[in-house]
Amino acid sequence: MQQLHRLLVEMSGIAHNDAAFTQGHVGGSCKTRILCHFFNHKAGKSSMAITKQNVMDALARVGMPDGGDLVSRDLIRAVQVNDGAVQFVIEAPTPEMAARMEPIRAAAEQLVRDLDGVAEARVALTAHGPAAKPAPPSLKIGGHPKPQEGPTKPSGVQRILAIGSGKGGVGKSTVSSNLAVALARQGRKVGLLDADIYGPSQPRMMGVNKRPASPDGKTIIPLHAHGVTLMSIGFMMEEGKAVVWRGPMLMGALQQMLGQVEWGELDVLLVDLPPGTGDVQLTLCTKSELTGAIVVSTPQDVALIDARKALDMFATLKTPVLGLIENMSMFVCPDCGSQHEIFGQGGVAAEADKMGVPLLGALPIDLETRLAGDGGTPVAAGEGPMADAYARIAEGLVKGGMA
Ligand SMILES: Nc1ncnc2c1ncn2[C@@H]1O[C@H](COP(=O)(O)OP(=O)(O)O)[C@@H](O)[C@H]1O
Ligand SMILES: [Mg+2]
Repeated sequence: MQQLHRLLVEMSGIAHNDAAFTQGHVGGSCKTRILCHFFNHKAGKSSMAITKQNVMDALARVGMPDGGDLVSRDLIRAVQVNDGAVQFVIEAPTPEMAARMEPIRAAAEQLVRDLDGVAEARVALTAHGPAAKPAPPSLKIGGHPKPQEGPTKPSGVQRILAIGSGKGGVGKSTVSSNLAVALARQGRKVGLLDADIYGPSQPRMMGVNKRPASPDGKTIIPLHAHGVTLMSIGFMMEEGKAVVWRGPMLMGALQQMLGQVEWGELDVLLVDLPPGTGDVQLTLCTKSELTGAIVVSTPQDVALIDARKALDMFATLKTPVLGLIENMSMFVCPDCGSQHEIFGQGGVAAEADKMGVPLLGALPIDLETRLAGDGGTPVAAGEGPMADAYARIAEGLVKGGMA
């Protein structure tokens, strides 16, 4: 709008400096009164006072490269609006991020400056070091569950998929984070709920180490990373403090994770389960409307014995198993390309066949997968054979109407 105005002013041949330009809109003493009158009338610029909310609404349109936007990622601080002059601070999560966020700062400043009713905008960029985390939101996590009729599902969420295994350490969390990212890359709206109360690993794997906000002490605003809406039970717990979960507390916590988190509109919500066949699985399968479960296993016999238990449990709880994923199925030598079946061969495929459930994919042991998971950027967020492998599994799920 300002550019158009300027162009018309130039075309009309009237000298018009910036101060007069601004003044013309705010104070109404511009020399190009007729033009200003036209624009003020059209855009209501002088008649509309800008509010903090207008500014926040605009900033919610500025996306972050690793998912979410400036507002949903809770990066805006100290918004001040004074007679059409707006200033605020963007607080980058880390100093390294801040070094890369100058284009975002500039874009946010320009966007706000172009809003109706804004005469000037000034935006500063700061960063928090890896300082101590603020206290968890003033929410009692894991209180007694509220009585609930039948199974429920957050209202905007189309499907809930649980990712389970009988055994720990087979790659459930790795598969969950990578599948979530791969689905998001295919344009799906994806949520990831880390329900592993014993060892939540998604904060590390997705590279998010923040407390979610809870402005009213009731709703929990989830975080965003790599295009995925993320909530982990780990975000809500005091660091280094052991939590002894009793059955009812655990049910309450899960209910909160599903019911109080503002998941928004999602095509699919993936739930990264703790290992085994315990209370979390039982609660989730009976209290929420699960679309189905995916079971991850490594090919060796001991893992398969536990995978069978998981399959059995889902069958008992009448949760459909959508398929099996074989993880760490082989090692491809990076030097010579030869394949080594470290954990045996084809065990999961044979099991899938026996159970009559599809094998959704077989993922090799891969150093990059582990390094990427430890580093907070899942391998599926990049390019290469592993990203392709996850993309294929994601594609299969989308085609099958499961995600
Ligand atoms: N395909 C893989 N190749 C190499 N390392 C893997 C692979 N899958 C998982 N890992 C690593 O194995 C460890 C356990 O995986 P994790 O996803 O935490 O398992 P779970 O959630 O089943 O306990 C992690 O360090 C992870 O990076
Ligand atoms: Mg895990």
